[in-house]
Amino acid sequence: MNPTPASESPTAPEHLVVGGLGKTFRQGSVEVPALVDVGFRAGRGEFVAVMGASGSGKSTLLHLLGGLIEPTTGSVSIAGQDLGALDDRRLTLFRRRHLGLVFQAYNLVPTLTVEDNVQLPLLMERHGRLQPEKCAALLEMLGLATRRRHRPDQLSGGEQQRVAIARALIHDPSLLLADEPTGNLDSGNRERFCSRLQELAAAQRCTVVLATHDPVVAMWSDRVLLLRDGHLMAVLDRREFTSPAALGARFHELLDAATPSGAAP
Ligand SMILES: Nc1ncnc2c1ncn2[C@@H]1O[C@H](COP(=O)(O)OP(=O)(O)O)[C@@H](O)[C@H]1O
Ligand SMILES: [Mg+2]
Repeated sequence: MNPTPASESPTAPEHLVVGGLGKTFRQGSVEVPALVDVGFRAGRGEFVAVMGASGSGKSTLLHLLGGLIEPTTGSVSIAGQDLGALDDRRLTLFRRRHLGLVFQAYNLVPTLTVEDNVQLPLLMERHGRLQPEKCAALLEMLGLATRRRHRPDQLSGGEQQRVAIARALIHDPSLLLADEPTGNLDSGNRERFCSRLQELAAAQRCTVVLATHDPVVAMWSDRVLLLRDGHLMAVLDRREFTSPAALGARFHELLDAATPSGAAP
């Protein structure tokens, strides 16, 4: 089942608004334009995949969306809030309330059980309270119900990854950013993970932006953004491709067709 279409809610298309977003990294005298003039919008509950080869700017885009690095140009607005207008303290608070992050390192605390790791973000709130029932429901949905009392070193890589997802969702974020979250999963777990993520996005009306180079994963999304050398080459609607192979072919076709200015030959 696909998440509720953004068009069903009048405010939905504005949940994530990205305009003219760019990031240039400086290494000594060398400038690396990691992201160049990227713009798109996503509604609540929408699942957007960001596809591109290694080095195309996927992680840079997700770090900018999460307010973890500052843009060189452009802006990111989440739930009507321009991230650039927030000072560090308010940005941290905003991030805690609105964002769920699943990045390549899971950052689980080795001495805590699965359920304590999942509820850790709640304890970091000033008036935070544990929510054992919600935690149990998330673990159940993610197929980790029997692992509640395990510690991270007693789990497989895929299970640790799912604990990180549960932790990212415990505080009902309105935007989940996931950077290649299926990198350590075999194909069976990858399918299960994508299907659960899609269900969770729909159930919690959480917008998902997921970076991947894998067409099988991108197939679960509502829309696919194609990045090449930091440029947004195309935005494909889910209806425009019928299989991972068709998406992969379309991707290569678009990448071959146009070389962005300034890109390596
Ligand atoms: N902190 C950084 N300093 C300098 N260059 C960086 C930094 N982070 C990323 N880059 C460069 O930006 C480009 C995009 O990187 P990245 O966003 O990590 O791509 P992807 O996630 O698609 O593999 C690459 O050329 C990378 O080398
Ligand atoms: Mg990356």
